[in-house]
Amino acid sequence: MQASPLKIGLLGLGTVGSGVVQILQANKTAIGIKLGRDLEITKALVRNPQLPRQVNYDSIRLTTDAAEIIGDPEIDIIVEVMGGIEPARSYMLEALQCGKHVVTANKDLLALHGRELLDTATAAGKDLLFEASVAGGIPIIAALKQSLAGNQIKQLAGIINGTTNYILTAMAEQGREYADVLKEAQELGYAEADPSSDVDGLDAARKLAILASIAFGSAVTLNDVYTEGISRISKTDLEYARELDYTIKLLALANESEERVEVRVHPAFLPNSHPLAAVKGVFNAVYVVGDAVGETMFYGRGAGSLPTGSAVVADLMQVVRNMKTGANGNLNCTCYRRLEIKPVEEFKSAYYVRLQVKDEPRVLASLAAMFAEAGISFASIIQKPKPDEAAELVLVSHPCQEGQMQQAVENLKVYAKVLNICNIIRVEGGQ
Ligand code: NAP
Ligand code: HSE
Repeated sequence: MQASPLKIGLLGLGTVGSGVVQILQANKTAIGIKLGRDLEITKALVRNPQLPRQVNYDSIRLTTDAAEIIGDPEIDIIVEVMGGIEPARSYMLEALQCGKHVVTANKDLLALHGRELLDTATAAGKDLLFEASVAGGIPIIAALKQSLAGNQIKQLAGIINGTTNYILTAMAEQGREYADVLKEAQELGYAEADPSSDVDGLDAARKLAILASIAFGSAVTLNDVYTEGISRISKTDLEYARELDYTIKLLALANESEERVEVRVHPAFLPNSHPLAAVKGVFNAVYVVGDAVGETMFYGRGAGSLPTGSAVVADLMQVVRNMKTGANGNLNCTCYRRLEIKPVEEFKSAYYVRLQVKDEPRVLASLAAMFAEAGISFASIIQKPKPDEAAELVLVSHPCQEGQMQQAVENLKVYAKVLNICNIIRVEGGQ
């Protein structure tokens, strides 16, 4: 005889929560057979029970009182998909302390308080699983924690924010306006409740902090990640990228060398021949290099109700499998050492520099001398005439240290022939 259904409480029934409900409804029979036990969502916490929902929730009791779920002795697993720091943090700590397993998609919380939450889960002998917190439906956390566990991870590079990739793709390929595409991404359920998290690069930085902590076995938090967003990327930059055979992407980059971790999120020019340049729309991809496995690449939808729900449901099923074998709480925090964070001045990249200058003799030579003084040389230069005896210059440098580029920019700022420093964007993927 099959055991009674295992009861689950949802904290949140928005985009992701609805995806979880939909998947458990659609695949109920197969999931029940795989686990030898049915899963049943009995209660869901919401802010406003009167709101229309994307799913049929007839069998789920909606409540605005978290204690009704966390304090329910019949509920074994809490799925936190409400988002934000508080009260989500307190609810999760309380749930773990009163003996429940927790599955979450909350990267904001994990990137700041991951250690506290994971240690609490381990001390309580409970699972805290968070596959959905990074790259939507791509199983990258399981890959890093389990499938690649025998490797020293050397490098991670990824497109891990669906909203910004959706925006940059539509701007580059359809010439659409930034605000218009962002609105569409919000309507499709890709963007965060506050979409500035997406466009300012914070969402990707949070995910990178989570990935880097697991990959390098050393806690990395949001504050460690150098972060720039996409708001300064203009149609002009996208046009120059096309002319130079590049694509502009919001990249998340991490590597470890000499006991130090480098973690950064920023827009970057990528050669069109690079595998990440082909990742378009809401899709995400994570490229991982391990010392044993070599190069690997993980690809899939990075946001949205069902892709993210897919990761949450997989975690729920893992909790149940662990319950069967008594293995809960064994694979929470995987950090085993403490590495330093590399300072930004030591980052190394090539650069795209777009300037408006006076269209006069010797300006280009003076600029080249200024960059040379900082130890920077150029791989290519484009010059286009502009009205009022001005010219637009696009310089693509050879790789140099961030500190060298900062020195060159200080020189440009005081050179009277430079009318405007329009944009400076890193160029990656050359080597
Ligand atoms: P959402 O659509 O805004 O849904 C949030 C849900 O939580 C809503 O049902 C809301 O209630 C409820 N809620 C929020 N604050 C609450 C509070 N203080 N008290 C009671 N209920 C509260 O958000 P989402 O897109 O599903 O995202 C949820 C989490 O998943 C976030 O951590 C997000 O970063 C993460 N995530 C999202 C995606 C994605 O593609 N959307 C992908 C990966 C991870 P009402 O419905 O009554 O407003
Ligand atoms: N807002 C996030 C994104 C959701 O666009 O990638 C998935 O984490």
